[in-house]
Amino acid sequence: MKGTERPSEALQTALRPLHPPPPGGAGGAAQPSPGSPVALRLHRAGSASATVRLTSVTDHLSSPDQRARHWENVHEGSSPDAVSWYQPEPVVSLELLDVLGVAPESAVIDIGGGASVLVDRLLARGFTDVTVLDISDAALRAGRQRVGSDPRVTWITEDLLSWEPARHYDLWHDRAAFHFLSGTEVDMYRNVLLRAVAPGGSVIMAAFAPDGPERCSGLPVTRYSADELGAVLESSFQVVEHRREVHTTPAGAAQPFTWIAARRSSPRHRRRA
Ligand SMILES: C[S@@+](CC[C@H](N)C(=O)[O-])C[C@H]1O[C@@H](n2cnc3c(N)ncnc32)[C@H](O)[C@@H]1O
Repeated sequence: MKGTERPSEALQTALRPLHPPPPGGAGGAAQPSPGSPVALRLHRAGSASATVRLTSVTDHLSSPDQRARHWENVHEGSSPDAVSWYQPEPVVSLELLDVLGVAPESAVIDIGGGASVLVDRLLARGFTDVTVLDISDAALRAGRQRVGSDPRVTWITEDLLSWEPARHYDLWHDRAAFHFLSGTEVDMYRNVLLRAVAPGGSVIMAAFAPDGPERCSGLPVTRYSADELGAVLESSFQVVEHRREVHTTPAGAAQPFTWIAARRSSPRHRRRA
């Protein structure tokens, strides 16, 4: 969808399948029956609606190809400010950044950052080393077009599960990417995180809360309490703060999130412990 084609309110459900939502749902996407295809109906101002058919989403996307195709279709089929996870300001992310005392000279990576404006806000705060990683090139294109060419930002199109970090980061930030993973993928995620986060570095993670939606973007998610999210990290991490946030989607639905902010001990501290 091009910049001038503003989506209608109807598109605010961009990632909601066409099936009717369950009564009394927590604002999550509707749940198609297993095996049924998921389609998104997009309404453009002044034009007929178009239906974008995603991969035939049955359940969890286990193959890297399926995952990449799904997310590329999602991002190509909607404008960044119409998706259910859109937030005009990354308020909790920035608050937790302050809680952790992450300084502007720190290297930050936004995992599954999509087209989020977190990168813009970090640059405005004087950060000079920001990386945004996402499986979808379309998502990163949208971010790049908004931010412009900026030597302070590195854009990486990769599936985080197969990504081999070539360096350390002082802050790993993930809002709403981790909760799509399940089973051994959680271990793969942890292994990548452990390789990427510098000793003494920090992690901010947000996932749907236990009373949050069961699905997002046509996919099942795992919902987490703060204890459960903290347990994903290794024992060298200490959760220093957790939050509950009720995100309001562009369509007005309430989506409870669990946030944690954790710090990794440096080897020196670990020896003392
Ligand atoms: C719900 S969106 C959240 C986007 C962004 N973090 C935000 O808060 O606006 C999830 C993002 O994770 C990305 N993603 C999903 N699976 C991924 C994977 N395996 N590797 C990298 N990115 C992934 C998607 O393309 C999407 O941009």
